[in-house]
Amino acid sequence: MKNAKILITGPTGQVAYPVALKLAEANEVWAAARFSDPKKRDALLAVGIQCINVDMAQGDFRELPQDFDYVLNFAVVRDVGNDFDTELTSNAEAVGLLMQHCRAARAFLHVSSCAVYHPAGHEVLTEKSPLGDNHRTMFATYSVGKNAQEAVVRFCARAFQIPSIICRLNVPYGNNGGWPYYHMLMMEHGVPIPVNTDAPSTYTLIHEDDIIGSIPPLLAAAKVPAEIVNWSGQDHVSIEQWCGYIGELTGLEPKFQYTPDTLPSVMSSNAKLQRLSGPTQVKWKDGIRRMVETMRPDLLKRA
Ligand SMILES: NC(=O)c1ccc[n+]([C@@H]2O[C@H](COP(=O)([O-])OP(=O)(O)OC[C@H]3O[C@@H](n4cnc5c(N)ncnc54)[C@H](OP(=O)(O)O)[C@@H]3O)[C@@H](O)[C@H]2O)c1
Repeated sequence: MKNAKILITGPTGQVAYPVALKLAEANEVWAAARFSDPKKRDALLAVGIQCINVDMAQGDFRELPQDFDYVLNFAVVRDVGNDFDTELTSNAEAVGLLMQHCRAARAFLHVSSCAVYHPAGHEVLTEKSPLGDNHRTMFATYSVGKNAQEAVVRFCARAFQIPSIICRLNVPYGNNGGWPYYHMLMMEHGVPIPVNTDAPSTYTLIHEDDIIGSIPPLLAAAKVPAEIVNWSGQDHVSIEQWCGYIGELTGLEPKFQYTPDTLPSVMSSNAKLQRLSGPTQVKWKDGIRRMVETMRPDLLKRA
């Protein structure tokens, strides 16, 4: 992608930050967030990204231009507690108002989550698998909010004729963090890591390089009605496995706490992603090793 005018919401987040930096190399990138950490805004400004203060919870986008070629909605309002009303206003209504504002876009990419699926044990979920709520034990409102957002995006794609694609992330990780990174910190501090009694707790990782690499073909696949795709790699890996590997790299010992009251496994098929953008490239051990080398080289075992 070159010379496109792109809006990225949630640009300071774990997933969008490396995306914003990469796209800014050859495009005009605008970033929308509250910029609660001014250092992150400064880092974006430093590479020429325009930063506009927006609070998704307010749904007021008047400060933003309306002539974006592409909109990538990575923002997620997380501080909603157990308040479903706030969840739906801040995440679901907000994405609709954003699409209404940016209805001239050539494509709209909405970042969803495999949290939209009904818990299915170790079954591999396709985009047609039953929807439901697999995050309730840890984040009460999250799955409901993500499903509601998807419905709003589907509606707006048709109502405003915006080619759209809904990308359901599984476990994104890389040199800007992710769930395995938090587990590494728990290992460092001797904190028990909850894993499901329906063991192992298996997810389908996707590295930030593969997220970045798949964005142009995913935007090209946006359509009316909205396209839907699982955004995960080919590697089904359990928490037990990735913590074990982090242990091999660092010498830290994971302590697992088996409980039914934590997230169940969520394993997703990326067959459709492969059809749209080819197979993902980063093998999970390589990605985890690079994450540790970049973020906490001090923890690596001395050879
Ligand atoms: N990380 C994962 O493991 C994972 C897994 C599956 C799906 N996803 C999805 O991937 C997307 C990105 O997730 P992430 O983990 O990178 O998120 P994150 O690290 O929590 O970052 C959230 C981003 O949204 C912005 N934001 C939060 N509240 C806002 C508000 N009221 N108004 C405007 N902006 C706001 C934040 O900036 P400010 O706070 O400065 O406003 C930040 O840039 C989300 O849609 C998430 O649901 C993530």
